Amino acid sequence: MYIFAVAKLDKQPRLRVNNKDCMDFLTLTKNRYSCRSYSAEKVEKEKVDYIMECVRMAPSAVNRQPWRFRIIVEEEQRHKLCQCYNREWFASAPMYVIASILHDEEWVRADGKHHGDIDIAIAVEHLCLAATEQGLGTCWVCNFDASMCHSLFNLDTNEEAAVLIPVGYAADEVREKNRKAADDIEQWL
Ligand SMILES: Cc1cc2nc3c(=O)[nH]c(=O)nc-3n(C[C@H](O)[C@H](O)[C@H](O)COP(=O)(O)O)c2cc1C
Repeated sequence: MYIFAVAKLDKQPRLRVNNKDCMDFLTLTKNRYSCRSYSAEKVEKEKVDYIMECVRMAPSAVNRQPWRFRIIVEEEQRHKLCQCYNREWFASAPMYVIASILHDEEWVRADGKHHGDIDIAIAVEHLCLAATEQGLGTCWVCNFDASMCHSLFNLDTNEEAAVLIPVGYAADEVREKNRKAADDIEQWL
């Protein structure tokens, strides 16, 4: 019952850390949503630095950190990126991050399974949750033209643009989550 009560959408901070109000983790996860409308207001450099420090702390297989993050803020670069994902809402963001996997640095298990996808996903979700904590909206975008992105941004041969993340102040509202029930996804053995 307690968990359910906390799980309701709630923007109120509930914790104090380092003398600052913070959202508890469940509230943070509920406030992160796919934001598809942004205001033109620029994201402060201190916030970008804070978010990227949270990204840098992400774990990765064998601590390889097989990633690169291009932070796109210049108008010309933003227009270029929007060609790779041509959606009106996407173009409204004041900044983007291209999250790339460096395939020559990712860990590969003995059975051949590559772990760059897992590593980049963890780092990207750190980004999205840190941005939420800072009052910013984000959206995971994978349905973009990755080869166009590769050539427009001159990515390295071993580099794969895996996720585009628009970041900015939301011009829409956090939505209730539509999620499977715990019973449908958990198996207790
Ligand atoms: C790996 C991944 C890829 C996604 N790609 C896109 C995308 O290309 N375009 C888009 O609008 N949303 C994309 N999304 C957002 C999902 O649609 C969204 O996370 C999901 O519907 C749950 O909604 P929520 O993020 O608001 O909780 C992606 C999400 C993930 C995790």
